[in-house]
Amino acid sequence: MILVTGGAGFIGANFVMDWLDGVDEAVVNVDKLTYAGNLGTLRSLHGDLSHIFVRADICDSNTMDVLLEDYQPRAILHFAAESHVDRSIHGPRDFMQTNMMGTFALLDVARRYWSGLPGAEKDAFRFLHVSTDEVFGSLSETDPPFREDTLYAPNSPYSASKASADHLVRAWNHTYGLPTLTTHCSNNYGPYQFPEKLIPLMITRALEGKPLPLYGDGQNVRDWLYVGDHCAAIRAVLAKGRAGETYNVGGWNEVTNIQVVHVLCDLLDELRPKASGSYRDQITWVADRPGHDRRYAIDASKINRELDWKPAETFESGLAKTVRWYLSHEQWVADVISGDYRKWVETNYARRA
Ligand code: NAD
Ligand code: TYD
Repeated sequence: MILVTGGAGFIGANFVMDWLDGVDEAVVNVDKLTYAGNLGTLRSLHGDLSHIFVRADICDSNTMDVLLEDYQPRAILHFAAESHVDRSIHGPRDFMQTNMMGTFALLDVARRYWSGLPGAEKDAFRFLHVSTDEVFGSLSETDPPFREDTLYAPNSPYSASKASADHLVRAWNHTYGLPTLTTHCSNNYGPYQFPEKLIPLMITRALEGKPLPLYGDGQNVRDWLYVGDHCAAIRAVLAKGRAGETYNVGGWNEVTNIQVVHVLCDLLDELRPKASGSYRDQITWVADRPGHDRRYAIDASKINRELDWKPAETFESGLAKTVRWYLSHEQWVADVISGDYRKWVETNYARRA
């Protein structure tokens, strides 16, 4: 079996569901269930004996030790993290705790467990760390996309904490020989994303008739990738990636924020028209994010060349799927929009007005 951390979050849950759909290998899913973790997302796996959910904190080494000994996974796939840049600006401590100290704790228990494995199992074991393109910092309009050897230049507390985790993973490979793999992926979107991130936030607010808040001039560029394509890339890296290597994962899909919001509004105008006017009328301009990275872009040629991975979805097809998903899962959205989420919206947007 494999052990996944953070499998009740957006990407982790998509990964676990895709995995159990396609492979006959059990998953131990370890998640602390922070505000971003949601067991409702995993409802379809209820009663599936191949899915073992454990509520635990990756920082709790004793529990993680026991889980590894009990379940003897052949790989650890590490998704668990605090993942939202704006939250990291308001409260960086949790980011340092989970992303840095949690990754350290997990590497350390993984090393102990791996060291005790018999020969063939030891050789086959993998620790796959799911990281982000944000560790490379910000590009200008004319810079080439990030490559695996681009220098680190993290700018936000979130990206700095992920960069720290990447360095720890590298060190555990270099010093102890732990067979690690690291992926750097661009911005994901798709089903089950918490509506604090750009795309689900805009869809859910549009449907509620609320303002659609674009930071700054709306010209920041992200390289969007459908979550199912990210999950496929992780499976490819786990199956065929070379231990100690890093792989960039991206959609070759650079889009400005204003373009993203325009496409979303147009899709909603078509699929759920308003009584009068367009969802575009709800767009508002708000104060920029401090330290806002201008542009991210990924050169995904290494994973394409070496592991034969490329995205299946275009931005248009992936976004249409996503909008349809949110339109047909309004109960899921209503359930995640809890008291805690409402407090966050007040904290983040009140001062931007
Ligand atoms: P998410 O915030 O939706 O989910 C994170 C999950 O981790 C939640 O279920 C949460 O409960 C869990 N978690 C947090 N702290 C924990 C702890 N201490 N112990 C155990 N579980 C804990 O995040 P996501 O968007 O699914 O991102 C998953 C991973 O992918 C992260 O490592 C993130 O840095 C990386 N990533 C995300 C994106 C993106 O666009 N979302 C892009 C590239 C990389
Ligand atoms: P986000 O989804 O938070 O991802 P990241 O910051 O990790 O790239 O934001 C994506 C882009 O959208 C980013 O440039 C910030 C911008 N943005 C807004 O303009 N308004 C918003 O309300 C949010 C949440 C993000």
